Parts: sequence; C-alpha cells; structure tokens
Amino acid sequence: MDKKKNGFASGLGFVLAAAGSAVGLGNLWGFPYKTQEYGGAAFVLVYIACVLLIGAVTMVCEIFIGRRAQANPVTAFKNINPKFGWFGVLAILIPGFIACYYSVLGGYTVRFAANSFNGNAGTMDEFAANGWLVTLFTAIFIAGAIFVVMAGVKGGIEKASKVLMPALFILLLGTAIFSLCLGEGVAEGLEFYLKPDFKKLGGTEILAAMGQAFYSLSLGMGAMIVYGSYTGKKISLVKSTGMICLFDTMVALLAGFAVFPALYHYKAVEGAAFDPSEMKGSTLMFKTLPMVFESLGIVGKIVSFLFFAMVVIAALTSVISLLEVVCQFVIQKFRFSRKKAVALLALICFAISIPVGISAGGADVKLFGMDLLTFFDTVTNTVLMPVCAFFSCIAVGWMMGPKKAVGEMERDGQKLGFFRPIFMFMVKYVTPLLILAIEILGVYELVFPEGKFSGNGLGITLSAYGLLAVGALVYFLFFKKSDTGTNADEK
Ligand code: TRP
Repeated sequence: MDKKKNGFASGLGFVLAAAGSAVGLGNLWGFPYKTQEYGGAAFVLVYIACVLLIGAVTMVCEIFIGRRAQANPVTAFKNINPKFGWFGVLAILIPGFIACYYSVLGGYTVRFAANSFNGNAGTMDEFAANGWLVTLFTAIFIAGAIFVVMAGVKGGIEKASKVLMPALFILLLGTAIFSLCLGEGVAEGLEFYLKPDFKKLGGTEILAAMGQAFYSLSLGMGAMIVYGSYTGKKISLVKSTGMICLFDTMVALLAGFAVFPALYHYKAVEGAAFDPSEMKGSTLMFKTLPMVFESLGIVGKIVSFLFFAMVVIAALTSVISLLEVVCQFVIQKFRFSRKKAVALLALICFAISIPVGISAGGADVKLFGMDLLTFFDTVTNTVLMPVCAFFSCIAVGWMMGPKKAVGEMERDGQKLGFFRPIFMFMVKYVTPLLILAIEILGVYELVFPEGKFSGNGLGITLSAYGLLAVGALVYFLFFKKSDTGTNADEK
C-alpha cells in the first residue's frame, strides 16, 4: 500500500521536504528581526512554547488530513465533510498569493548572493527601485523552483530537499560559529538574545510569537496537507511532526546566533553611530547585515556570499512547496500534465510578481495605502492564514472529533503514546481558541492601529474575506459535485 507512484520514496525524504517548506525567510529573517522588535529572549521563550503547544498540534492535523485522503486539499476536506470542501480552496489560494510576493523576496536574495563580492552595503534602495533588475532576479529565482517542481515529488522535491537541507544547515552552523568568534560585542549580543526580561512581554508580543510560529512552520496554507498526502501510512505522524518542528526551530534559533553577535560586534566597533534596536523588517537583512559584512573586509565578502547562498536555499525550498500546492490541484482537478501545470502556474506567478516587485521598490503602486508586497503579505498572513489553520483544527477536532481521529490514526498503526491525551484535548479546545484569538487580535490591530480606526485596514480585511467568499463560491458552483481528483490521477 505504501508503494505509490506519486509520493515521497522515504520517510526521511518527507521530513526533509516538509522542513524545507517550513525553513525559509521566516526563520532566517523574520525570526531575528521579530526577536529584536518584540523584546529578545522573552519572545524566544514564548515562541518555543507556541511551536510546542499549538504549532505541533496543528501540524499533526494537517499532515493527517492530507495523508488519509492521498489527495489535494479540496478532496481532502471534502472527504471529511463535502459541505466544507471550500476550506481546501482557501488552502490552495493562500499559497498561490504568497508565491507571488515570496518570489520577489527570493529574487532579492539571489541578487545579494550574486553581488556579495562587489559589496552589498548601501545598494538595497537602488536595487529595489530598479524594476528591470528586480524582475530579472525574480525570474531567475522562479526558474529554480520550476526546475525542481517539474521533476516531480520524488524525482524533484524530495531529491532537492535531501541535498539542500543539509547544505543549508552546514552553512548556517558555519555562519553562527563565525559570528560567535567575532570577539568584541558578542557577549552583549548574546545577553540580549538569551537573557529574558519578562517585563517586555505583553499581548502584542505574545500574539506576534504565535503568528510567527504558524508562519514559520508553514501552517494554515495547505503546504503540510499536500506534503502529507504524499506520505505513506507507515511513517509516524508524531515523530515526523516532532522532527519538522525541531528542525525549523533549530534553524530559527541558530539564525539568532548568527545575527545578534555580529550586530552587537558591529555596534561595539562602530560606536553610537549605530543602534541595533532601530532595525525593522527588511532593513536587517538587506541593509544592516550587508553593512556588517562590509566592515569585515574580504572575509566578510566570503561570509556574505555563504550567508546569502543559504538564504536563497531556504527561500527556494519554501517557494517549491508553495508552487506544488497549487500545481497538485491543477494536475488532479484539470488533469494537466505536471509540466504543463508548472509552466502555466509559474508564468502566472511571474506575471503577478512584476507589479509586486515594482511596487515594493517604492513606485507609486499602492492598494489601501500599502505597497503590493506588504498588501499580499498582510492579506495572506494576518487575515487568512489563521482562518485556514483554524479550519484544519476544526475539521479534525470537531467534524471528525478527537476520538474518531485518534482511533483512525491508531488503526493505521500509529503509536501516539503520551501525545494522545494532549492532542485530543488541545485539538478540540485550546488550539482552535488560540488561533481564533490570533485572528481576532490581528484583524483588530489592522482595523484599529493604535486604537484609531483605519479605513485602509478595513479595506484590507474586507479584501481578504472577499477572497475567501469567492473561493467558497467557486467551490459550490464548480467543485462540490464534480470529482476533484486524487494523487493517483497524476499520470
Ligand atoms: N515557512 C516559510 C518561512 O518560514 C514561509 C511559509 C509560510 C511557507 N507558509 C508557507 C512556505 C507555505 C511554503 C508554504 O519562510
């Protein structure tokens, strides 16, 4: 039963591919800058708690939903309840939108890796504003993803992950060790990163940690459902989830060890001219770190190249999974060949990424007061991701019910052990409630930033829910009664 034509050849292959999806810009860039922004070590502890308590439970649900169906998310949710197959449409739409802006950021990282020996310091604004160049590097990045996804799940995604993930880990370890050996300022950096100050912890910080955990683990967007559908029943749900979460968290933590000592070293050497607490978002990766590398001479150039090569790998394996989610559905529902599906979808993604890249570079292309990249990011991550993660938990915790779900896992030979009672309780009550809290507080902050009503925030929220409604409508009009395919339909 486990010998499938369309799927991962081994359990390790599955774990590495899923870790490849999870490990991405969220770990190497989002995690350090959010740690910086939301208070250092205390944030890190809350983050780890979120991964363990709500991330892992949701991941088990998603892998389980995909695996029992051996099919795309629409069919998978339909199998649980045909009235709610539209959950699956959402799980495919979100990654589609993310792919369009993630590719632009992937393009940035390719450019920074390629340009390391020329020096990247101070080049960010000029580069980002150059629409042609951004488009070119976005195209190079997408081409890499096309190459892998076209070769299929086993021959492409699994093979690539088996090489790229260990490479990434070694590069990261090397960068972290280098950073820790810089001497002056390192101790101060470590103190900021590792010594918790719980006075800094409030609702906003906890919410940010929960959101970051979901984003970093690629939850609430179909990815784990799809990769789960490509595994056999033999591999252990609990163990693989544990390994994926462990790998993802280790990479995030190591990224902190690579970034903070280097930053504080730079600060110690440059003196008051530089304040690490001023950095936000893309500034850290594309402005501050290049300055740090620049200050280290030729060694810095080499480290810069290795560092950005690692970021490219991380982003690539994530975009591969984003593309695969949409491809799988197109292949199974419309009986496209894999090559045709990948070519078509990559082209659409590329076409959309062009205005996104231009808008992100500062051109006057805006939606509700945001550049398109931030708009896409907010719509998908702040508003829709929790909705989709919530659906995954509800599908298992309420529609199937924890007893039935756990019974089914055990019939398949899964040993749940101590995880069994925790899972049954969490999946029904705690996890969905916490996800709901992320959604409500996230939307509230969007519509009432700093307590004042924002029309733009409302516009963004309504666009996101509008998209959700369109997805549901499409499902009831076109997909509910028709066959939406399974993995066996891929020729
Ligand atoms: N987890 C990825 C990161 O850390 C980003 C991401 C979020 C993602 N959702 C996804 C990647 C879904 C692939 C599929 O950068």
